[in-house]
Amino acid sequence: MVGGGAREHTIVWKLAQSPKAEEIFVAPGNAGTAQIAHNLDIATTDIEALAKTAKENHINLTVVGPEVPLANGIVDYFQNLGMAIFGPAKAAAEIESSKVFSKALMQKHGIPCAKSVAFDDYNKAREYLQQQTLPIVVKADGLAAGKGVVVAESIPEAIGALISFMDTKTLGEAGNRVIIEEYLAGREMSAFAFSDGKNVVPMVPACDYKRVYDGDKGPNTGGMGSYSPPPFYTPALAKTVLDTVMKPTIAAMSKEGRLYKGVLYGGLMINKTDTKVLEFNARFGDPETQVVLPRLKTDLVEIIEAVIDNHLDKMKIEWSDDACVGVVLASGGYPGSYRTGFPISGLNDVDKDLMVFHAGTKIGTAGEVLTGGGRVLTVVANGKTVAEARKKVYDNLPKISFEGCYYRKDIALLKQEN
Ligand code: AMP
Ligand code: GLY
Repeated sequence: MVGGGAREHTIVWKLAQSPKAEEIFVAPGNAGTAQIAHNLDIATTDIEALAKTAKENHINLTVVGPEVPLANGIVDYFQNLGMAIFGPAKAAAEIESSKVFSKALMQKHGIPCAKSVAFDDYNKAREYLQQQTLPIVVKADGLAAGKGVVVAESIPEAIGALISFMDTKTLGEAGNRVIIEEYLAGREMSAFAFSDGKNVVPMVPACDYKRVYDGDKGPNTGGMGSYSPPPFYTPALAKTVLDTVMKPTIAAMSKEGRLYKGVLYGGLMINKTDTKVLEFNARFGDPETQVVLPRLKTDLVEIIEAVIDNHLDKMKIEWSDDACVGVVLASGGYPGSYRTGFPISGLNDVDKDLMVFHAGTKIGTAGEVLTGGGRVLTVVANGKTVAEARKKVYDNLPKISFEGCYYRKDIALLKQEN
C-alpha cells in the first residue's frame, strides 16, 4: 500500500480482511497501519525505491492511495517491471492531474459539466473574466492539494486568483494554465466506481466536508468528515450518475487511447435539473473511503484482481445497507500551522464496533501513539441510519483526546430536504 493517511489505513484494514492477503506492507504508513501491517520508511514519491522494495519483499500486488505517485507514473513504472499494481497509468491519471485535459475530455464526449474556457495567457484570461457574471470559478490546471480552486464572489477576487496562479505562481507549474468556469449551485456528492478499462461497477457514494469550521465556514482542508449514503441518492440518481458520467467517461478514456483502470472518483454537483461533474480524481477519496469501504461486503483483493485481470464483469460486488459516518480529529490550527508530537489518549476506550483510522500519527520512543500531522484520525461508526451512526461517533469522540484536538460538530447533521 502506497500512502500514509486515513484513506490508506482504511484500505489496508479492508485488504487485511481478505484470506488472500498474507502479509501487507505500507509505505510510509502511520501508527494505525503499524498495528495491522509492516510500515516501510519510503516516501510515496520515491517510485524507484518503492519498486525495488516491492521486488525484494516479493510483494505481488501494490495498491496506490494518493494522486501524486499516480500522476508521476508509478503504475507505468511497476508495469514495465512486470509487477502488478492497482491504479491508472500516467496518461489515464491525467483526468485528475490536468483540469484542462479533463474539461476538454468532458466537452468532446458530452459528459455533463460546467461551461468553461481554458487559458494559458494571463491577459486573455483577465479580459475574459471581466465579462463574466458572478460568482465565477477559477481553477488551476495541475495538482494543488485542494488549493487550486477559487469560487470568487467579485471580479477583483477572481483576478486575485488569476494573479496568484499565473503570475506569482503560488502553486508552481500547476498554475501555468487555468480554467474559468461557470458557478454551479446544488448539492455536492462524491461518486466512485471500479473499472478495468471497459467494465464499470459503481460503489456507494459519500458526501465530504471540505471547510474547517461548522456551517461550512473557514478555509478549505483535506476534508473534515464524511458520510454515506447521501439522503438524496435515489435509484434514479444512481442510474443518472452511472449512465451519464461514469460509463461514458471510462468509454471516452478508452477512445482517447488512455485505458482507465482503477478507481474513478467523480466530484458531482447535483440540483433539481442537472447532475454535473466538478472534477475527476484518479483514486479513492479521503475522507470518503473511511465511510465507503466499511460498507463493502466483497473481498477487496478479489475486486482489485478482477480490475487488473480485466474480468470485473464477472465480479458480484455487494454493499451493506448500513449508513456510515466519519469525523476527522485534527490538530488545532490546521489547515494553517499546528504543532505535533502530542500523546493521544483513549484510542482503545471507544466502543468496540467503532473504527479509528489513523492519518497523521506516529509511534513515540515508549511505543505510545503521538500526533504527527494536521488531520490525525478519522473516527467512524455505522448504524441503520445516518443519524444513528452519527450519534455513535459523537458519543465516543470525547473519549479520545490530545492537546489542541479539534473536530467539526456538524458532520452528517442532515438538513431538512427542500
Ligand atoms: P474541485 O477541486 O474542482 O472539486 O473544486 C473544489 C471545490 O470547489 C468543489 O468541491 C466545490 O465546492 C467548488 N467548486 C468547484 N467548481 C465549482 C463550480 N463550477 N461551481 C460551484 N462550486 C465549484
Ligand atoms: N475528499 C476529497 C478528495 O479526496 O480529493
